[in-house]
Amino acid sequence: MQTITITGRHPLHGCIRPAAAKNSTLPLLAATLLCGAPCRLLEAPRLADVDTSLALLQAVGANAQRCGADLCTRPAENLCGEIPEHLAGAMRSSVFYLAPLLCRTGLVRLPLPGGCRLGPRPVDIHLAGLATMGAEVELEGMAVTLRRRAPLRGVDFTLRLPSVGATMTLVMAACCAQGQTVLRGAAREPEVCDLVRFLRACGARISGEGTPLLVIDGGRPLGGAVHRPLPDRIAAATYAAALAAAGGELEIAGCDPALYDAFLQFLARTGVQTVRTADGVRLARDCTVPLRGGVQLHADAWPAFATDTAPLAAAVLLTAEGESTIFDSLFANRFACAAGFVAMGAACTAKGRRLTLTGPCALHGADVTAPDLRGGAALAVAALAAEGQTRLHDPGHIRRGYENLAGALCGLGAHCRCETGAAGL
Ligand code: EPU
Repeated sequence: MQTITITGRHPLHGCIRPAAAKNSTLPLLAATLLCGAPCRLLEAPRLADVDTSLALLQAVGANAQRCGADLCTRPAENLCGEIPEHLAGAMRSSVFYLAPLLCRTGLVRLPLPGGCRLGPRPVDIHLAGLATMGAEVELEGMAVTLRRRAPLRGVDFTLRLPSVGATMTLVMAACCAQGQTVLRGAAREPEVCDLVRFLRACGARISGEGTPLLVIDGGRPLGGAVHRPLPDRIAAATYAAALAAAGGELEIAGCDPALYDAFLQFLARTGVQTVRTADGVRLARDCTVPLRGGVQLHADAWPAFATDTAPLAAAVLLTAEGESTIFDSLFANRFACAAGFVAMGAACTAKGRRLTLTGPCALHGADVTAPDLRGGAALAVAALAAEGQTRLHDPGHIRRGYENLAGALCGLGAHCRCETGAAGL
């Protein structure tokens, strides 16, 4: 286990450029299995989940590796649809391999995917869509097996809720299916649009990304593409939250503020100065003036306030005046980080999907444990505002989604260090 030690109350200064998004890069890597020519994902992030994806690709017989800062893939002939349990269990994104391996091999077996424990995370929409397209679905213990005896067929399918992952699964499947697929109630997240742009660059015919109605003309052979994954809007929001907690001045460059507009609007409402620049946003906060709390946030699918930023908003609101509530529509256990906040002196309670907190809290350093990826980042943000030293024990979550969170914060003037296994945290 690695531990980040953070001594709070040191303002941040400088400029940061978020890496490419985990939640774009991971499905893009899976989608390269559909491609009949080499692909290159430019400046891909160095994350534990990317390493797991490369290991998974190699385990099923694909050619995928790092080439300097990029990720390179080449088409492989003899793929196998058996996904090893330790790789499936290491991340939620193993689910992205269902559709491409089903299309390519006719048979895929996926032990149920792991990832952050944010409450129940069923895969029923992925499976229902694939079944409608002609896949035979067999659930057996903790694994799912999909078979197809003929090419998948295009369908008119309505998602019962706009799942990001299921939309990506069904877009990939529809690219290989014979005929036209219409997806209704699709997710509109920027990462879905990024996957569509990549597949289109490879030769797919897809329209409607960014809307709930996607139309895919399937059955066209796909080539390859050189593609730059979208910048990480959640990492950008994390640095913005860090500035709000620690004070100082920070420019976040290379990530369109429109990608995390709801979060920037929230920060502006609490009193953080936000100014758009040509390439991003400049933020400033004077810590002698308390932030304004008393807000009600509701996390939901794009373009609403992003669920991944809900714990980060909570960390900021701990230092703001008034009672605030945050409700998360998507995940039942988004606020597992509340226990860490309380250990740091916060007045907050998580009841189901709702977090209630009353600030400003006199935060002090404590020993806390990252319960999940974004919850871990939120505890780091709270530690920046706390008096004294916080030891954040991380059983591996933060490295799944941030290239080098502690290093980035140190580079901006935060007082933090990794006590063990410094590389990569
Ligand atoms: N859902 C179902 N059935 C399904 C699929 C989803 O009931 O078949 C439910 C989920 O249980 C959840 C809701 O639908 O309550 C939304 O889930 P969604 O499928 O949209 O999320 P996801 O694809 O599992 C991705 C990101 C998450 C991010 C969510 C929401 C990846 C790898 N993960 O998850 O990111 O929070 O979309 O935007 O892309 C993270 O980065 O830490 C993270 C958790």
